[in-house]
Amino acid sequence: MKNMINIALPKGRLGEKAYAIFEKAGYECPSIREENRKLIFENPEKGVRYFWVKPSDVVIYVERGAADVGIAGKDIILEYSPNIYELADLGIGKCRMAVACKQDFCDNRERTLRVATKFPHIARTYYNGISREIDIIKLNGSIELAPILGLSDVIVDIVETGKTLLENDLEPRETIVDISARLVANKVAYKFKNQEIRKLCEDVEALLRED
Ligand code: PRP
Repeated sequence: MKNMINIALPKGRLGEKAYAIFEKAGYECPSIREENRKLIFENPEKGVRYFWVKPSDVVIYVERGAADVGIAGKDIILEYSPNIYELADLGIGKCRMAVACKQDFCDNRERTLRVATKFPHIARTYYNGISREIDIIKLNGSIELAPILGLSDVIVDIVETGKTLLENDLEPRETIVDISARLVANKVAYKFKNQEIRKLCEDVEALLRED
Protein backbone atom coordinates (compact mmCIF):
# COMPACT_ATOMS: atom_id res chain seq x y z
CA MET A 1 0.00 0.00 0.00
CA LYS A 2 1.31 3.41 -0.88
CA ASN A 3 1.95 6.17 1.63
CA MET A 4 -0.97 8.50 2.28
CA ILE A 5 -0.15 12.17 1.82
CA ASN A 6 -1.58 14.43 4.51
CA ILE A 7 -2.58 17.76 3.04
CA ALA A 8 -3.43 20.86 5.10
CA LEU A 9 -5.83 23.15 3.29
CA PRO A 10 -6.56 26.71 4.44
CA LYS A 11 -10.21 26.97 5.45
CA GLY A 12 -12.10 29.38 3.20
CA ARG A 13 -12.14 30.52 -0.39
CA LEU A 14 -8.44 29.97 -1.05
CA GLY A 15 -8.60 26.43 0.30
CA GLU A 16 -11.57 25.61 -1.87
CA LYS A 17 -9.73 26.87 -4.94
CA ALA A 18 -6.67 24.87 -3.94
CA TYR A 19 -8.73 21.72 -3.43
CA ALA A 20 -10.27 22.20 -6.89
CA ILE A 21 -6.73 22.13 -8.32
CA PHE A 22 -5.87 18.91 -6.48
CA GLU A 23 -9.17 17.39 -7.58
CA LYS A 24 -8.52 18.20 -11.22
CA ALA A 25 -4.98 16.90 -10.91
CA GLY A 26 -6.34 13.47 -9.92
CA TYR A 27 -6.37 13.70 -6.13
CA GLU A 28 -10.09 13.95 -5.58
CA CYS A 29 -11.81 13.18 -2.31
CA PRO A 30 -15.56 13.50 -3.00
CA SER A 31 -16.61 13.46 0.66
CA ILE A 32 -14.96 16.87 1.12
CA ARG A 33 -17.77 18.44 -0.92
CA GLU A 34 -20.44 17.19 1.49
CA GLU A 35 -21.90 19.92 3.64
CA ASN A 36 -20.85 19.19 7.19
CA ARG A 37 -18.48 20.34 9.88
CA LYS A 38 -15.96 17.56 9.52
CA LEU A 39 -12.35 18.65 9.32
CA ILE A 40 -10.68 15.51 7.95
CA PHE A 41 -11.45 13.74 4.68
CA GLU A 42 -9.62 10.92 3.03
CA ASN A 43 -9.55 8.91 -0.14
CA PRO A 44 -7.29 5.89 0.43
CA GLU A 45 -7.55 4.92 -3.22
CA LYS A 46 -5.89 8.15 -4.25
CA GLY A 47 -3.58 8.15 -1.25
CA VAL A 48 -4.71 11.51 0.10
CA ARG A 49 -6.02 12.80 3.39
CA TYR A 50 -7.13 16.43 3.54
CA PHE A 51 -7.77 18.59 6.56
CA TRP A 52 -9.06 22.11 6.93
CA VAL A 53 -7.04 24.39 9.17
CA LYS A 54 -6.97 28.11 9.88
CA PRO A 55 -4.99 29.68 7.00
CA SER A 56 -2.23 31.04 9.23
CA ASP A 57 -1.86 27.62 10.91
CA VAL A 58 -1.04 25.69 7.73
CA VAL A 59 2.70 26.36 8.07
CA ILE A 60 2.63 25.18 11.70
CA TYR A 61 1.06 21.83 10.75
CA VAL A 62 3.53 21.43 7.90
CA GLU A 63 6.63 22.53 9.81
CA ARG A 64 5.87 20.09 12.63
CA GLY A 65 4.97 17.24 10.31
CA ALA A 66 1.31 16.90 11.26
CA ALA A 67 0.74 17.59 7.56
CA ASP A 68 3.13 16.44 4.82
CA VAL A 69 2.16 19.25 2.49
CA GLY A 70 -0.11 22.27 2.62
CA ILE A 71 -1.26 25.39 0.88
CA ALA A 72 -0.02 28.61 2.43
CA GLY A 73 -0.02 32.23 1.32
CA LYS A 74 3.39 33.79 0.69
CA ASP A 75 2.40 36.40 3.29
CA ILE A 76 2.22 33.75 6.01
CA ILE A 77 5.48 32.15 4.84
CA LEU A 78 7.30 35.49 4.95
CA GLU A 79 5.83 36.44 8.30
CA TYR A 80 6.66 33.23 10.15
CA SER A 81 9.71 31.98 8.18
CA PRO A 82 8.85 28.32 8.87
CA ASN A 83 11.47 25.65 8.24
CA ILE A 84 9.68 24.03 5.28
CA TYR A 85 10.11 23.59 1.53
CA GLU A 86 8.25 25.77 -0.91
CA LEU A 87 7.52 23.48 -3.85
CA ALA A 88 5.30 25.41 -6.23
CA ASP A 89 3.47 28.65 -6.83
CA LEU A 90 -0.19 27.81 -7.43
CA GLY A 91 -0.94 31.18 -8.98
CA ILE A 92 -4.10 31.58 -6.91
CA GLY A 93 -4.82 33.92 -4.02
CA LYS A 94 -2.92 36.65 -5.80
CA CYS A 95 -2.66 39.95 -3.95
CA ARG A 96 0.07 42.22 -2.62
CA MET A 97 1.40 43.37 0.71
CA ALA A 98 1.30 47.15 0.70
CA VAL A 99 1.64 50.25 2.79
CA ALA A 100 -1.56 52.30 2.89
CA CYS A 101 -2.65 55.46 4.63
CA LYS A 102 -5.15 58.31 4.58
CA GLN A 103 -5.17 60.13 1.28
CA ASP A 104 -3.79 63.32 2.82
CA PHE A 105 -1.07 61.63 4.89
CA CYS A 106 2.36 63.15 4.39
CA ASP A 107 5.30 61.34 5.98
CA ASN A 108 7.64 63.31 8.21
CA ARG A 109 10.87 61.31 8.46
CA GLU A 110 11.91 63.13 11.62
CA ARG A 111 9.13 61.38 13.50
CA THR A 112 8.72 57.71 14.31
CA LEU A 113 6.18 56.22 11.93
CA ARG A 114 3.32 54.35 13.64
CA VAL A 115 2.54 51.21 11.63
CA ALA A 116 -0.53 49.05 12.34
CA THR A 117 -0.39 45.54 10.94
CA LYS A 118 -1.13 41.85 11.30
CA PHE A 119 2.33 41.22 9.82
CA PRO A 120 4.89 42.76 12.21
CA HIS A 121 7.85 40.79 10.85
CA ILE A 122 7.19 41.76 7.23
CA ALA A 123 6.62 45.40 8.23
CA ARG A 124 9.78 45.56 10.36
CA THR A 125 11.92 43.98 7.63
CA TYR A 126 10.60 46.41 5.05
CA TYR A 127 11.17 49.54 7.14
CA ASN A 128 14.60 48.32 8.34
CA GLY A 129 15.51 48.00 4.67
CA ILE A 130 14.75 51.66 4.06
CA SER A 131 16.17 52.74 7.44
CA ARG A 132 12.90 54.16 8.67
CA GLU A 133 12.26 54.24 12.38
CA ILE A 134 8.86 52.75 13.23
CA ASP A 135 6.60 51.78 16.07
CA ILE A 136 4.63 48.61 15.31
CA ILE A 137 1.07 48.31 16.51
CA LYS A 138 0.12 44.65 16.15
CA LEU A 139 -3.57 44.16 15.38
CA ASN A 140 -5.54 41.05 14.50
CA GLY A 141 -8.09 42.37 12.01
CA SER A 142 -9.92 45.45 10.69
CA ILE A 143 -6.49 47.03 10.24
CA GLU A 144 -7.99 49.76 8.06
CA LEU A 145 -9.57 51.34 11.13
CA ALA A 146 -6.20 52.24 12.66
CA PRO A 147 -5.27 55.28 10.52
CA ILE A 148 -8.89 56.44 10.41
CA LEU A 149 -9.08 56.57 14.20
CA GLY A 150 -5.56 57.99 14.58
CA LEU A 151 -4.18 54.80 16.13
CA SER A 152 -1.48 54.65 13.44
CA ASP A 153 -0.06 56.72 10.58
CA VAL A 154 -0.01 53.88 8.07
CA ILE A 155 -0.97 50.22 7.77
CA VAL A 156 0.89 47.32 6.23
CA ASP A 157 -1.76 44.96 4.93
CA ILE A 158 -2.96 42.79 2.11
CA VAL A 159 -4.51 44.54 -0.87
CA GLU A 160 -6.37 42.43 -3.36
CA THR A 161 -8.89 44.51 -5.30
CA GLY A 162 -8.23 47.69 -3.33
CA LYS A 163 -11.93 47.95 -2.50
CA THR A 164 -11.52 47.85 1.27
CA LEU A 165 -9.04 50.74 1.15
CA LEU A 166 -11.18 52.77 -1.21
CA GLU A 167 -14.35 52.32 0.82
CA ASN A 168 -12.52 53.51 3.91
CA ASP A 169 -10.96 56.57 2.23
CA LEU A 170 -7.47 55.10 2.36
CA GLU A 171 -4.99 54.76 -0.47
CA PRO A 172 -2.23 52.28 -1.24
CA ARG A 173 1.29 53.70 -1.39
CA GLU A 174 4.33 51.41 -1.67
CA THR A 175 4.00 47.73 -2.61
CA ILE A 176 6.20 45.62 -0.34
CA VAL A 177 5.83 42.24 -2.02
CA ASP A 178 3.53 40.31 -4.35
CA ILE A 179 1.69 37.42 -2.73
CA SER A 180 0.20 34.15 -4.00
CA ALA A 181 -0.53 30.70 -2.62
CA ARG A 182 2.30 28.17 -2.45
CA LEU A 183 2.44 24.41 -2.17
CA VAL A 184 4.70 23.74 0.82
CA ALA A 185 6.12 20.53 2.27
CA ASN A 186 7.49 19.22 5.52
CA LYS A 187 11.23 18.55 5.13
CA VAL A 188 11.23 15.07 6.68
CA ALA A 189 8.10 13.98 4.80
CA TYR A 190 9.68 15.23 1.60
CA LYS A 191 12.50 12.76 2.19
CA PHE A 192 10.43 9.77 3.30
CA LYS A 193 7.45 10.23 1.00
CA ASN A 194 9.57 11.69 -1.76
CA GLN A 195 8.01 9.80 -4.66
CA GLU A 196 4.46 10.54 -3.62
CA ILE A 197 5.04 14.20 -2.86
CA ARG A 198 7.04 14.81 -6.03
CA LYS A 199 4.38 13.10 -8.10
CA LEU A 200 1.69 15.23 -6.48
CA CYS A 201 3.72 18.37 -7.16
CA GLU A 202 4.36 17.37 -10.79
CA ASP A 203 0.70 16.56 -11.39
CA VAL A 204 -0.36 19.90 -9.92
CA GLU A 205 2.23 21.81 -11.93
CA ALA A 206 1.24 20.01 -15.14
CA LEU A 207 -2.37 20.98 -14.55
CA LEU A 208 -1.43 24.62 -13.88
CA ARG A 209 0.53 24.72 -17.15
CA GLU A 210 -2.59 23.49 -19.02
CA ASP A 211 -4.85 26.22 -17.65
C1 PRP B 1 -7.72 41.23 3.66
C2 PRP B 1 -7.09 42.55 4.09
C3 PRP B 1 -8.08 43.57 3.65
C4 PRP B 1 -8.77 42.91 2.47
C5 PRP B 1 -8.28 43.51 1.19
O1 PRP B 1 -8.53 40.77 4.66
O2 PRP B 1 -6.83 42.59 5.46
O3 PRP B 1 -8.99 43.87 4.67
O4 PRP B 1 -8.46 41.52 2.48
O5 PRP B 1 -9.01 43.03 0.09
P1 PRP B 1 -9.49 44.04 -1.06
O6 PRP B 1 -8.29 44.83 -1.50
O7 PRP B 1 -9.99 43.14 -2.16
O8 PRP B 1 -10.56 44.90 -0.50
P2 PRP B 1 -9.09 39.27 4.60
O9 PRP B 1 -10.24 39.18 3.68
O10 PRP B 1 -7.95 38.35 4.31
O11 PRP B 1 -9.64 39.06 6.06
P3 PRP B 1 -8.93 39.30 7.46
O12 PRP B 1 -9.00 40.77 7.73
O13 PRP B 1 -9.73 38.50 8.41
O14 PRP B 1 -7.51 38.80 7.31
